[in-house]
Amino acid sequence: MGLTTEMSKRLFKVLIVDPDKNGIDFLNTQLVRLQLTILFAGSGSEAKKLIVLQRPELIISETYLSDCYGMELLCWAEENYPQTKAILVTSDVDIITNKKISGDAYEILVKPFPIAELDRVLIKIFPTLLGTAEQKESQQCFMEISFEEFLSGTKALTSLYLKLSFRKYVKIINKGELVERDLIEKYKRKGIKSIYVESEEYDSYLELGLKASEVIKNRTDLSAEQKTKFFIHVSDIFQEKLYQRSFDENDFSQAQTLVLNTLEVAIKNKSIFDLLEMMKSNNNGLYTHCLAVSIYSVLLARRLDWSTDRTTAILAMGGLLHDIGQRNIPEELRKRHHSTYSENELKIWENHTISGAELLTRIENIPKEVFQIAMQHHEYADGSGFPFGLTSVHIFPLAKIVGLIDCFAYHVLPMDNKPPLTPLEAVNQIKNNRKGKFDPKMVEELERLIIC
Ligand SMILES: [Fe+2]
Ligand SMILES: [Fe+2]
Repeated sequence: MGLTTEMSKRLFKVLIVDPDKNGIDFLNTQLVRLQLTILFAGSGSEAKKLIVLQRPELIISETYLSDCYGMELLCWAEENYPQTKAILVTSDVDIITNKKISGDAYEILVKPFPIAELDRVLIKIFPTLLGTAEQKESQQCFMEISFEEFLSGTKALTSLYLKLSFRKYVKIINKGELVERDLIEKYKRKGIKSIYVESEEYDSYLELGLKASEVIKNRTDLSAEQKTKFFIHVSDIFQEKLYQRSFDENDFSQAQTLVLNTLEVAIKNKSIFDLLEMMKSNNNGLYTHCLAVSIYSVLLARRLDWSTDRTTAILAMGGLLHDIGQRNIPEELRKRHHSTYSENELKIWENHTISGAELLTRIENIPKEVFQIAMQHHEYADGSGFPFGLTSVHIFPLAKIVGLIDCFAYHVLPMDNKPPLTPLEAVNQIKNNRKGKFDPKMVEELERLIIC
């Protein structure tokens, strides 16, 4: 039953628990506009009495009360009055990031929060409380971005969330707020690697990242490492879009500009070992794999003297998109080693070559070589590959490069839980266990590339 009439709203009781009068006043001012019945308590014991007597629909509690923690009170309420909903108000990073105590008994509001944030959480708990117009807000979708240092010291381009569980996200930074370096450091120390933006805001986040990348490329006050990190980050969020959502010709040309800029910054300034370390620390599974394949394929091609602008662009995009057909494969399957696949699972996985090429043919103006790479990157010189079992002379040369680097990247940046090999170990593995699969000249140049 909705609570939209004034009458039913008045029957809706909210208990505010806060030892600080200013805290109570702030929440009271925010809630009074909703014409609800508001109760107050300054301590845990006082709150318990009111909960027993008044049975509020909602409890909003501060974390630190004089006689107990707010979360203890809210868990007690959940146990004894399961219908009662609850919000914990805190600014304590320990509390926000501790999944045990930030379980599902209550929502969390991170202080200081604007009124819109309180509304968002209220709508989430009581979808009809603020009227029907805002109901859609309760079904938010989120996209993951890595928690990178460059975020600090800037104004947040979009609101940023922390993921606590499958469905639970807590907004830790509001759009437009300054992202304090200290705060980022605190979350990082807690092992937080990713933050989330709302899907609806994702495009604007990405667009700003793309614009910034043009400026950052030419900045002289940033180190090569900072620049490369930034580019890897933007490429990463862009790939999430390519690999998880639909994409069109415009996305393709943006991706091309971005990956070529990334290459320019990365190749010019970094040793390939440093680059690999950077990618390891930012390993986002499939996306990092594809970026690594893109970069290392171009590096290998240069060693083979295949370095015209067109070849570089095709390889960069071919590397980035070679596994695009995997976007429909469940993550659970992708993370397992192929030796554990059932016959049916193997068929699903092998089909990523054909489905990827098909997907790319639907986008206008993509060079046909890019979808040849997607189609043929698992073909082996001895004819034992898939989907067609082509032999060396029939495999498109740039697909051979991507195929070899794909295998190399799999060893140095594993997507399953295998320990990574060093680049040299990876090449030795290819030489010893994959004899006849790859072009010997390419394997030789790959070895030279990592030895230099
Ligand atoms: Fe693949
Ligand atoms: Fe791959």
